[in-house]
Amino acid sequence: MEYSVKSGNPEKQRTACIVLGVFEPRKLTSTAEHLDSIADGFISNILRRGDLEGKLGQVLLLHNVPNGLSDRVLLVGCGKERELGDAQYHKIISTAIKTLNETGSMEAVCFLSELNVKGRDTLWKVKHAVEASEEALYSFDQLKTKSDTERRPLRKLIFNVPTRRELTEGEEGIKQGEAVARGVSLAKNLANLPGNICTPTYLADQATELAEEHDNVSVHILDEFEIKEMGMGAFIAVSQGSEQPGMLITLEYKGADDDSKPIVLVGKGITFDTGGISLKPGAAMDEMKFDMGGAASVFGTMQAVIEMELPLNLVMVIAAAENMPSSRATRPGDIVTSLSGQSIEILNTDAEGRLVLCDALTYVSKFDPDVVIDVATLTGAVIVALGHKASGLMSNHNPLAHDLLNAGDQAADKAWRLPIWDEYQEQLDSNFADMSNLGGPAAGSITAACFLSRFARKYQWAHLDIAGTAWKKGKDKGGTGKPVPLLTQYIINRSIVN
Ligand code: BES
Ligand code: MN
Ligand code: ZN
Repeated sequence: MEYSVKSGNPEKQRTACIVLGVFEPRKLTSTAEHLDSIADGFISNILRRGDLEGKLGQVLLLHNVPNGLSDRVLLVGCGKERELGDAQYHKIISTAIKTLNETGSMEAVCFLSELNVKGRDTLWKVKHAVEASEEALYSFDQLKTKSDTERRPLRKLIFNVPTRRELTEGEEGIKQGEAVARGVSLAKNLANLPGNICTPTYLADQATELAEEHDNVSVHILDEFEIKEMGMGAFIAVSQGSEQPGMLITLEYKGADDDSKPIVLVGKGITFDTGGISLKPGAAMDEMKFDMGGAASVFGTMQAVIEMELPLNLVMVIAAAENMPSSRATRPGDIVTSLSGQSIEILNTDAEGRLVLCDALTYVSKFDPDVVIDVATLTGAVIVALGHKASGLMSNHNPLAHDLLNAGDQAADKAWRLPIWDEYQEQLDSNFADMSNLGGPAAGSITAACFLSRFARKYQWAHLDIAGTAWKKGKDKGGTGKPVPLLTQYIINRSIVN
């Protein structure tokens, strides 16, 4: 889709469709009112007949509206004017785009970006409109022989801003929105690919491709053999049970001088999590192909940052492995030595994410990071705590935690902080090693983060547990691309401060 912004009057748009809002009950937005008066009350007449109440998500497509230049007018219900927040705005845009896509329109001028959304400016509204549109149009059919979604004519979307002074802001919104949306799509595509296609090697190939496309991006891949040689005993304990070799994949983006310390993102890339010898139950196990959602989102964020050419340095490290049971697999009770030198008793082979991540966290200190943020579908417990609405955030550094919470709020991709107080650490005590990889049933997300914190002492670190947010179940089953919007917003904010 091609996006742009303009500032103009609805009656002057020579286009296939213009999109206008109607509040509940039957209250025209000011732009709709303006067009209505030029059209001699055509729209308000129709509303009076009761065809559109203005409830959130309602739509009405009109033809032959008098005295205008557009072929069609699409009215979209916006709900109660006073209740218009992020979620409502998202729904309004998404409904509008899906409906438009069903009409024969090749292009449309959308006035919904002028709505007043609580606490949001023009940049946000345009940016979010682009993100919501791309989400509405997303489909994953690369593995279907016949596509479900026919090719539609809609090619061009123009978002209107109230005044010409806001055009620059709107253009910035398009730029950021497109970058985030492309990052989200990439993350969704990677997440949606099944475990037999999206293997650690596949992820490594994708990273290599991305690096080849950009001069300021370089790739470095450690294979299973090198990982073992380096002494990453915790990582190997996970990947050794699989035929698929594990990979530690690094992409470095240089947008600033060499002496500028990088932001480092670390992604859990378990391309399939059977649980290993601590085998998972069969129900819904297919969803464990999404256990590389952290890696996918880190990838997507890298893509967005590259596209925006942000002036900072960014490193992405993906710990990619498959967690399988086999005669070579780790047994419960096995003790391994991590890259940090600390020994770990593996009491449950299904707590594998922390094992690959802990070695990756030790590894990344070589980049002399400004901050390190790991992203992982780490614990089922975070779904118990926060459901599917927010990612769990844990950190050893309050300012970093605040910055990430703010970024999540700004990006409408929320996170909520959980504590990692020292009091929880004793749950990881082992009789036989420096620690166990299992903290027991209480506070499962917190003890998982406490485990990671023991490998992140040398730098400012945050951990995002995205087990509840990385994918959806049910009819809309699929990757969400979260938390690409949050991470990208954080990095945009950092690039402004620097
Ligand atoms: N990938 C899972 C976490 C997960 C489970 C995400 C269900 C989404 C839905 C992770 O590797 C795992 O198995 N965690 C265990 C940890 C436990 C053994 C300490 C869990 O959450 O049950
Ligand atoms: Mn697991
Ligand atoms: Zn897992």
